[in-house]
Amino acid sequence: MRYTLICILLAVASTLTPGFAIALDIQLPPETAVFKPSKLPGYMLAQRNCMICHSVHYIQSQPLTSTRDYWEATVKKMRVPFGAKFADEDIPVIVDYLVKTYGAERNSGTAALNTAGKPEIVALTATSEPADAKALLAANNCMACHAIDKQIVGPAFRNVVAKYASKANAATLVARNIRDGGSNKWGPVSMPAFGHLSDAEADVLAHYVLSQ
Ligand code: HEC
Ligand code: HEC
Repeated sequence: MRYTLICILLAVASTLTPGFAIALDIQLPPETAVFKPSKLPGYMLAQRNCMICHSVHYIQSQPLTSTRDYWEATVKKMRVPFGAKFADEDIPVIVDYLVKTYGAERNSGTAALNTAGKPEIVALTATSEPADAKALLAANNCMACHAIDKQIVGPAFRNVVAKYASKANAATLVARNIRDGGSNKWGPVSMPAFGHLSDAEADVLAHYVLSQ
């Protein structure tokens, strides 16, 4: 696990040194490489915020008896001192998902959202609203892993444009890849799936990326 983290940090560091490429080949077993799907709003927040620096294995390897307090302390530690960036009000929502999925409250039923379940987060997942690209990028934290003209965790959007320049169905392919996530198209690091995006939202994002 430590190895995975170091590799991701190396991959990030290598973007600071143009021309320096490192070949990494880390294959995670697919069934454990992603957060367990859940109706809890913290599921998507964890997907967006907790795979930026390390794999889900860090979460999966915590004792199943871990309490809410323990998860809260762990999540807070990711911000200070580790430097993760997520909003204060997202902390209880993420903690609620973690303790009910990987900790001591596993059997308490995921259907019952406690008061930490914030309606506005659920609203972000609504499939009907047409949204503009910038709002979608912000709501899904895309720019934590991407930039327009340099690689961060994922490829620079300009490089995506270059890769798809000659493809007639570029927007369709890119929209599908945004929804499905995955790895090995650009490198070994995975992009989480954004399956909650509607066709229209994925399409807006794909067109935005391809117009950079
Ligand atoms: C900015 C980078 C960063 C982000 C984002 C991040 N972490 Fe971490 N995480 C770390 C570092 C650094 C460690 C310590 C690594 C080590 O000791 O090998 C760590 C370790 C952990 C561990 C192992 C136990 C421990 O206390 O060391 C858990 C569990 C964990 N993170 C959960 C999370 C969760 C949940 C999130 C999302 C809310 C998250 N992380 C987001 C950097 C991050
Ligand atoms: C946790 C980090 C992370 C987040 C968050 C993230 N991505 Fe990615 N993204 C990646 C990685 C890593 C890849 C390369 C995957 C691969 O090699 O197949 C990637 C690949 C892509 C690609 C290239 C797909 C292709 O067809 O080749 C696009 C476009 C993209 N991301 C857009 C987005 C958008 C839009 C969002 C927000 C909805 C987003 N990403 C959120 C990490 C992330």
